[in-house]
Amino acid sequence: MKKWLLALVAALPSLALADDFLISTPRTSLLLEGEPGQSLRILYYGDRVGSGEVGQVKASGVCSYSEAYPAFGFSYNPEPALAVELPDGQLSLQLVLDSTARQSGDGWTDYTFTLRDRKEPFYVKLHYKAYDRLDVIEMRAEVFHRLKRPVVLRQCASGYLPLRSTEAWISHLYGNWGNEGRLQQEPLTTGLKVIQNRDGVRNSHTRHAEVMFSLDGRPQERQGRVVGAALCWGGNYSLRVNKESGRQYDFLAGIDPLAADYHLERGEVFATPELAVTYSGEGTGQASRNFHRWARATHLAHGDRPRDILLNSWEGVYLAVDEAKMKGMIQDIAALGGELFVMDDGWFGRKYRRDRDNAALGDWEPDTAKLPGGIAPLAGEAKRCGVKFGIWIEPEMTNTKSELFEVHPDWIVCPGGRQPSYGRGGTQLLLDLSNPEVQDFVFGVVDRLKTECPDLAYIKWDANMSLVGYGSSYLPADRQSHLFTAYHRGLLNVLKRIRAKYPDLVIQACASGGGRANYGLLPYFDEFWVSDNTDALQRVYMQWGHSYFFPSMAMASHVSASPNHQTGRRIPLRFRFAVAMSARLGMEMQPRDMSEGERDFARSSIADYKTIRPVVQQGDLYRLVSPYDGKGVASLMYVSPDRGQAVFFAYKLEHFVAQEWPDFRMDGLDPGARYRVTELNLGGARAAGVSCQVFTGRFLMESGLSLPLSGEYASHVLRLERVD
Ligand code: GLA
Repeated sequence: MKKWLLALVAALPSLALADDFLISTPRTSLLLEGEPGQSLRILYYGDRVGSGEVGQVKASGVCSYSEAYPAFGFSYNPEPALAVELPDGQLSLQLVLDSTARQSGDGWTDYTFTLRDRKEPFYVKLHYKAYDRLDVIEMRAEVFHRLKRPVVLRQCASGYLPLRSTEAWISHLYGNWGNEGRLQQEPLTTGLKVIQNRDGVRNSHTRHAEVMFSLDGRPQERQGRVVGAALCWGGNYSLRVNKESGRQYDFLAGIDPLAADYHLERGEVFATPELAVTYSGEGTGQASRNFHRWARATHLAHGDRPRDILLNSWEGVYLAVDEAKMKGMIQDIAALGGELFVMDDGWFGRKYRRDRDNAALGDWEPDTAKLPGGIAPLAGEAKRCGVKFGIWIEPEMTNTKSELFEVHPDWIVCPGGRQPSYGRGGTQLLLDLSNPEVQDFVFGVVDRLKTECPDLAYIKWDANMSLVGYGSSYLPADRQSHLFTAYHRGLLNVLKRIRAKYPDLVIQACASGGGRANYGLLPYFDEFWVSDNTDALQRVYMQWGHSYFFPSMAMASHVSASPNHQTGRRIPLRFRFAVAMSARLGMEMQPRDMSEGERDFARSSIADYKTIRPVVQQGDLYRLVSPYDGKGVASLMYVSPDRGQAVFFAYKLEHFVAQEWPDFRMDGLDPGARYRVTELNLGGARAAGVSCQVFTGRFLMESGLSLPLSGEYASHVLRLERVD
């Protein structure tokens, strides 16, 4: 790559002076410095600098000169990236630069620095993968050695980054079941802040493996330097940011070390997950757009394909699935203009039936009392109606009441000779994916379904249990501490096999709602279920939080019944659609319970969504008014990459007499272009006065629009089209 300043790569071992290594993306640069036999250091990460500007960066005094991969032992590092126990019991490492390499692929270049301990044949290969057209750099490490006996890896981060700032704030997501992805923004004071997840299976319910650091104080959407980071790992993680004193924060992220010592054999390579980092000089908004573009291009299955509008059966019938109801729902979503029907939980189990949530997981055979002809007649009905067909599974799990558990009681996660921990229904158990036989079984679940029903287009892959009762009867006694990691490597093996054989299958990651919104898994999944909470008001907050890191096309957002099943709140259908239309639109209710007027509304809004789908799903997000700012409204918009089209959303979140709300100033438009505004999602209601009017992009961004929001849960969805 052009900016690789390694002038004398081949002659590295004989170099006397430190070399500069400038790794750049279109708008960002990471600068490292090192010389053979000395430590490799990170100097700078920020706005792109040219090779001619490296001297200026170094002369400025803003460089950090921190070790690129600090190891425990010789230099003082309160938060090391690497901590090991060598076979002779020694704990200290002293990593120095050994060699460098560079490899390019389609649109990316991977810069590799091999570090070696000064004394022992112990190595770390640090990778920095930079994209030509995406402002993200992926860091990762590969650790290996040539010692006779195993080395114990106690801690092994994916990457380290110094953050130069005196007043950094962190933006991260927190929550719980039914309230996932809430945005939290707080100043980082002196000391250590740790964001950690130890669930073992569902790693994004309570906390998230993605963060943003605003380096110039309180986070702002359009201004200020921001570093974003996403750890791409579906298992336990630990994100640490430490400030000792002075003007630097040290940030590290990797697999969580608790109960995860790894015994690394000679010649074996321990590869960490990736840590994807981005930089924005224009606030959190640009950092999000960087993540979204990167995700669609590299870390989300089928990131370039439009998502179908679907009906999911869960909130409509729950476990009371039967052939007549399923066929009715297929016909109804087809009549509303939808494109896919998904049969959720309740369809399987023979000896043990899935009438309650305490039986039959693992027995992925249709329940012939509910579905006499199995799945085929449903897939046939879907085809007849011109929609696709999908199904729910939870293949990593079983119940004590299942034929699978009767045959394979040793396949579950459980320490030998003890009672297991039970999950949902008091009977749920987690299958031990460290075991290759279990991996074959889980792959076989999908393989069988696809073989028996080749038209199966979509799978909702659920996971409703934590990794508790920690222990594996597959792993040997001295390798029990590998389970957290081995489980997820096993899962990734299965997902890779599924993707190799069924590249077009659409798969949703669900884990009791939003428990698996994470870039370790999303390369294999097309989307994630944001939350089991479908209340449109609460969804505004949850989807806003997720939008910091995840593109709208990955966020499954369904219109459900009113009153809402989780909150009991009554919200007009128009608002419910307006919220779901800002992400991947779907429905999750019994259409037969809707009035004729509601069905007409749904039909018309689904048709509207089809006209804005490319912009919502592939456009750039601009967050305008945050629901977290207490203004009583929220607003966001998407703009197509050529800025020719945009979609604007506004939601009224509070309702008072004489309420005041701001004018809506847009963003991301072409200031010189003229846009025609058309109001959507009306279902016959009167459009706002701005509809059918033409405005310049400049006016919409500088003055904005005043929109009527008189009733409770008022909302607006506006389509903007360039007219000249
Ligand atoms: C989980 C999911 C729900 C639904 C149920 C079915 O809770 O999050 O969407 O699929 O399981 O049991």
